Amino acid sequence: MKSVYKILSIVVLLSFSQFGYSQKQIYEFSLDTKKIGAPIQPTMYGLFFEDINFAADGGLYAELVKNRSFDFPQNLMGWNTFGKVEVRKDNLLFDQNPTYVVLSDAGHPHKRTGIENEGFRGMGFKQNEEYRFSVWAKTINTNEPQKIRIDLIDSKNDILITQQLTINSAEWKKYEVILTPKSTESKGRLRIFLDSKGEVALEHVSLFPVNTWKGRENGLRTDLAQALADIKPGVFRFPGGCIVEGTDLDTRYDWKKTVGAVENRPVNENRWHYTFAHRFFPDYYQSYGLGFYEYFLLSEDMGAEPLPVLSCGLSCQYQNEKEECHVPVKDLGSYIQDALDLIEFANGSPTSTWGKVRADMGHPEPFNLKYIGIGNEQWGDEYVVRLEPFVKAIRAKYPDIKIIGSSGPSADGDKFDYLWPEMKRLKVDLVDEHYYKDPQWFLNSAKRYDNYDRKGPAVFAGEYACHVPNRDNNFESALYEAAFMTGLERNADIVHMCTYAPLLAHVDAWQWKPDMIWFDNLSSVKTPNYYLQQLYVQNKGTNVMSLTRNNTSVSGEDNLYASAVYDKDQNCYIVKVINTAKESKDIRITLSGLKKNSHLSVGECLELKSDNLSLVNSLESPSNIVPQKTTARLDNNILIISANPQSFGLYKIQL
Ligand code: AHR
Repeated sequence: MKSVYKILSIVVLLSFSQFGYSQKQIYEFSLDTKKIGAPIQPTMYGLFFEDINFAADGGLYAELVKNRSFDFPQNLMGWNTFGKVEVRKDNLLFDQNPTYVVLSDAGHPHKRTGIENEGFRGMGFKQNEEYRFSVWAKTINTNEPQKIRIDLIDSKNDILITQQLTINSAEWKKYEVILTPKSTESKGRLRIFLDSKGEVALEHVSLFPVNTWKGRENGLRTDLAQALADIKPGVFRFPGGCIVEGTDLDTRYDWKKTVGAVENRPVNENRWHYTFAHRFFPDYYQSYGLGFYEYFLLSEDMGAEPLPVLSCGLSCQYQNEKEECHVPVKDLGSYIQDALDLIEFANGSPTSTWGKVRADMGHPEPFNLKYIGIGNEQWGDEYVVRLEPFVKAIRAKYPDIKIIGSSGPSADGDKFDYLWPEMKRLKVDLVDEHYYKDPQWFLNSAKRYDNYDRKGPAVFAGEYACHVPNRDNNFESALYEAAFMTGLERNADIVHMCTYAPLLAHVDAWQWKPDMIWFDNLSSVKTPNYYLQQLYVQNKGTNVMSLTRNNTSVSGEDNLYASAVYDKDQNCYIVKVINTAKESKDIRITLSGLKKNSHLSVGECLELKSDNLSLVNSLESPSNIVPQKTTARLDNNILIISANPQSFGLYKIQL
C-alpha cells in the first residue's frame, strides 16, 4: 500500500511540474547593447498648456478675483453690489481696461454701499496664510480721505478677516493690504464696504496669496506650478490648441495683448465659453494676467524649451466654414509681423522694440526661443497658403528658429494625408499631430511610427490622450498610453516632442476630460496619467536601444509592450515594460553584445499597477495609483522580471 502512495505522489508531482510550473511561459526579449541608437531629444516629453477647464484664470494663475477690472462685457459679472454703486468707463490710465466702479454713500445711516466678488466657483483661503489685497483707487469730489473695509468671508457668511484701508488721494493710486484668514475655506468671497461718507472709485481689484510659486507677485498657484515643474518637462507648449484660433478672429489669442502692465491687458472672451452647449460657461474670460511673458518665465523656471503657437489667420475651422471668417492671404501681414515680433520679444536685445518690452517687464536676458508653431488644428489648402508666407518670412529673418506646422485635427484621414506631404514641401521642421483616441486605438498604435518616412520633418505629438469623452482619468487610460508611448520612444529618431493634453481642469468648471491634473480651490490631484508622463520624462534616457522579441519590436503581442533606452549621464539602460494582461508575465531580457568585464547591477525599479482598470485618483483619494518600487533580478547578462498583471514597469540596469 505504501509503495502505491509513493508512486501516486511521484505521478502528482510530475504532472504539477509538467502542467503547472512549466506551463508558465517565459517571454524572451533581447536588448542589443552593441549599437547605441538615435539620440533622444531633450524636448522628447513635455507639457501642453491651454486655458481650458479654467486652467489659467481660476487655476494656475493665482488671482482669486474674477472680473477684477470690471471689463467683462457684463461689467458686474462675478460681483454683487449693494447701496450706491455706479459703473464708469473713462479710466484713461488703463485705456484698454477703462471700466471701474464708484462707491457712494448709501444716503441713510443704516444703509451701506459695497461690492462682493464670488471668485472662480468661490475663493480658496488657507488658515493663517497671507493674502495680498490690492486695488487702484481714488477719492471723488472730495479732498477728504475715504475709507473702505475689506472682508474675506466664508460660505456661511462669517468674516474670516477684516481690515480697513484709507484712500487718501484724488489721483489713481495703487493700495495694498495683507489679510490673514483665521480659518480655511474653499468657497470664500471678498467683500468691500465703503466705510466713510464720501465717494471712492475702485479699479483692478485683486487678491493673491502672498505665497505664490517662487514668491512672485502676479504669480502662480504653488501646488499647480510645482506639479508642472515636478514633471521636469523638456518642452512647454502654450497658450494651447483651439484657444489660439478663437471662436472667431476677434477672440483669437493675440500675444501682444498679454504683455506689459497687467492692469492694461484687455479682457478676452475665452473660446471655451461657448464650445459645448452641455458644458456652457458664460463667465469664462481671459484676463491675460497669465500672458506670454509669464509663460516664457514658467518655461525657463521649469527648464523646458518654450513653444508658443500663434494664429495663422484662420479662425477655428470647425466653427467658421466661410472664407470671410478668416484673414485673406493678402492681408496676413500683421499676423506674420506678430510672429516676427514674438521672436524679437523672446530673443531680441533690450534695445530692440520688443526686446525692450521684455526687459522692462524684468527679464533683460533673452528667453532663447528656438521653436514656434504656426496654426493649431488647421487643415486644407487654406492652411497651406497661409502657412507658406509665415515660413518664408521667419526663415528669412530667423533661419535658426524651428517651425512647427499642423497635420490637422486627427491622426489619419483625408486632412492628415493631404497635409503631411504639404508640410514636407514647405520644409517645416516638425509636424504637429493630434490624437484623442479610444483605448483600443492606443493599444493598436504602438507601431505607428515604426515605418514613418525618416527624411521629412520630425513629429511633434502635440496633443494626445487615451480618450473616452467625459470619462475620468482612470488607470486604463494611463496604462494604454504607456503601451503606446513605447512606440514614441522606440522611434525617437523621428518623434522629437510629445505632449499629453489637456493639462489642468477645475473640478467645478471643466469643459473637457480627461485631463492630467485636477484641482479645486484649495488642492489638486495628480492622475495616473500624470505619474505615467513623469516616469517617461524622467527616464527618457539619451539614446534609443533596440529591444526585440523574436527579432521584432515588442508592441502588443501577448499583451506586452516594451522599449529601452541608454542613459549616458547615469550610465544605465532603462527598460519599460507594459503588461496589459490580467495575469503576470515572466520575462527574461538578455543583454547581448556587452563589453567584456561589464559588471551589471539592478538599479531603481518602479511600477504603476492596478487590478482595477477603472480606478482613479481623486481629491479625496489622491494616491490610489502612484509609482511604487518593484524588483528585478540579474542572472549574469539576463534581467529577469515578473511583470505584474496590468502594470507599467520601469527597470534600470546599471553599468
Ligand atoms: O485639448 C483640447 C482641444 O483639443 C484643443 O484645444 C484642440 O487643439 C483639440 O481639438
